[in-house]
Amino acid sequence: MNGVFRFVNGEFIDDTLRLINHNDSRMSVTILGIESSCDDTSAAVITDGLLRSNVIASQKVHEAYGGVVPELASRAHQQNIVPVVSEAIRQAGIDRSEISAIAYTRGPGLLGSLLVGTSFAKGMAIGLDIPLVDVNHLQAHVLSHFIKVNEDDRSPEFPFLCLLISGGNSQIIYVKEMNDMQILGKTIDDAAGEAFDKCAKVMGLPYPGGPHIDRLAKEGDPLRFSFSKPHIPGLDYSFSGLKTSFLYTLRDNLKEDPDFVKNNISDLCASLQKTIIDILLVKLKAAIKETGVKDVAIGGGVSANSGVREAVEKLCSDMGIRAWIPPRSFTTDNAAMVAIAGYYKYLDHEYSSLELPPFARVTI
Ligand code: KG4
Repeated sequence: MNGVFRFVNGEFIDDTLRLINHNDSRMSVTILGIESSCDDTSAAVITDGLLRSNVIASQKVHEAYGGVVPELASRAHQQNIVPVVSEAIRQAGIDRSEISAIAYTRGPGLLGSLLVGTSFAKGMAIGLDIPLVDVNHLQAHVLSHFIKVNEDDRSPEFPFLCLLISGGNSQIIYVKEMNDMQILGKTIDDAAGEAFDKCAKVMGLPYPGGPHIDRLAKEGDPLRFSFSKPHIPGLDYSFSGLKTSFLYTLRDNLKEDPDFVKNNISDLCASLQKTIIDILLVKLKAAIKETGVKDVAIGGGVSANSGVREAVEKLCSDMGIRAWIPPRSFTTDNAAMVAIAGYYKYLDHEYSSLELPPFARVTI
């Protein structure tokens, strides 16, 4: 079913034309974005591409478990969604009647978490009698580079490459247009974020470990330890071998010195981070050469890493191309990226129907 459908007296009524006409008469387009794919409940308001609010409620409940517990995430979304959306609308200084459409993350992600945002977005769209726009979470990460915080903010030029690195994904994406993306390479096992988090866990660092490794790496020697790197063809990634190699280094050294981790934590973090960056950049460089792009962007939680940011800047500068490094607030899950992706779909009249279910697994 394509287009916009209203549920009236137990039946879907095709409302596409009415809404297209309705939209055309509007002076500006205001999108409310809703994100609930994992453990962040977020709502944001964007008007004509310009960010007006971006509220994120992170869930501390998972820290005690060393990872996201899906059932607890759904329950926390259920508690957070109403206050988070209200706060985003309040901070944007708008009235609900000014919202042109609601964009929500349809997937990929945890199904129970997605159901909360999806159901809320549908209910609100029905209540306000406005269109719904479903957004692919991965595309939203890529399109976060088009969020304008200031009127004169610039964005990458098409076609460009996006290195999308998060807790669940490690991909090199060729972005031809707003809605036309192709995955050139992806991880065949763990994601880069998992490598950070799992190695952090064995060192006894809190979850998520990525930011802790980033902080400790600043004081360490990146050349002190060496860990194995994958040798797989093409532009795909693999991080599981590195994880094992890291684990064996700890195991062997702990036999000699029970305080090995404590005494060497900065060097371990710096060396691990360097290895992850080396793995990421070898394939990124190859993809730049293969495609001949002039713009490279990064996105996803791991793109908040200071070493990754510096290394991508340097690689691009050495290759004479532009690097697009997002503000840290747009690297982890947020609704501003959902709102901007929804904004461009809305302009193309790509609406979603009320009957679309969320999806746990999907690619770009
Ligand atoms: O995109 P994201 O917020 O959501 C999921 O994919 O779930 O990414 C979360 C991942 C975690 O693995 C976290 O450790 C990592 O991003 N991360 C970092 C940093 N900040 C977040 N990894 C390395 N350095 C950081 N500064």
